[in-house]
Amino acid sequence: MLLSPLLVAAAAAALAGAGASCPVLCACRAQAVDCSGRRLFSVPPELPLDTGNLSLAHNRIASIPPGYLACYAELRVLDLRNNSLAELPAGLFLAATRLAHLDLSYNNFSHVAADMFLEARGLLRLDLSHNPGLRRVHPQAFRGLAQLRDLDLSYGALGALSLEALEGLPGLVTLQIGGNPWVCGCTMEPFLKWLRSRVQRCSSDSQLAECRAPPEVEGAPLFSLTEESFKACHLTLTLDDYLFIAFVGFVVSIASVATNFLLGITANCCHRWSKASEDEEI
Ligand SMILES: *[C@@H]1O[C@H](CO)[C@@H](O)[C@H](O)[C@H]1NC(C)=O
Ligand SMILES: *[C@@H]1O[C@H](CO)[C@@H](O)[C@H](O)[C@H]1NC(C)=O
Ligand SMILES: *[C@@H]1O[C@H](CO)[C@@H](O)[C@H](O)[C@H]1NC(C)=O
Repeated sequence: MLLSPLLVAAAAAALAGAGASCPVLCACRAQAVDCSGRRLFSVPPELPLDTGNLSLAHNRIASIPPGYLACYAELRVLDLRNNSLAELPAGLFLAATRLAHLDLSYNNFSHVAADMFLEARGLLRLDLSHNPGLRRVHPQAFRGLAQLRDLDLSYGALGALSLEALEGLPGLVTLQIGGNPWVCGCTMEPFLKWLRSRVQRCSSDSQLAECRAPPEVEGAPLFSLTEESFKACHLTLTLDDYLFIAFVGFVVSIASVATNFLLGITANCCHRWSKASEDEEI
């Protein structure tokens, strides 16, 4: 009598064939597991093995255990929006070969480390926006993301962005960079040039991107800067300039030696001449 409901439950679990059942506090439907807004401080330990969409959004998760995604090869969408994450464990995406959308917005990342997404080769969309302390993106941060189409880096604390980080993204279509305190000095020039050259393919939230420094261009839209704005950056001397300066210096020093010599001779002559005329007078 007591046994039969248990048997039914066991049979149901076996039929589902999905290993772990839906985690407590989460809602599961089809392949989607929704654990958003449940005040979670840590990730649910086990998920159905066929999980395709996982939302852990709007919680207080501060870390993800290493290997957390190792069993979920079907995972396509991972939503970690609005948590307290500052880093991801190495190799998190090793088994998540199908992962296409990753949302890390509204977290606590201060930098994007090298090779952070290296194994997430199928990633199409990556959202790192609204990480208010995000200051640094490693030049190799996005290595491996050959298919990435949409990258959102808006509303962080970025003053600069290494061109190398973006050049490794051949499939990039949209790039959001607004709401960052961009420093529009000389180092901005190559970045801006790259953005302009990609503007057809790469739609950007250009109006929102503003310069925070240097003072002369504070508040100016990034895209209002022209080649003229960077003219001072090109006031460097070429080899020809150095040779010319060296030559002029050489000529001037020879000339001054010669002038001194002539002056010396003249003075000497005058002295003798005046002495001679004094002698004559006496
Ligand atoms: C999974 O997420 C994608 C993208 O967010 C969404 O379009 C799709 O409807 C979701 N699937 C389920 C079953 O919730
Ligand atoms: C973040 O989650 C909290 C609940 O944990 C919610 O009150 C808040 O509105 C969310 N913020 C955003 C920007 O979604
Ligand atoms: C964000 O990280 C800093 C340290 O880097 C920490 O002091 C702070 O409490 C974190 N904030 C949240 C909301 O987790």
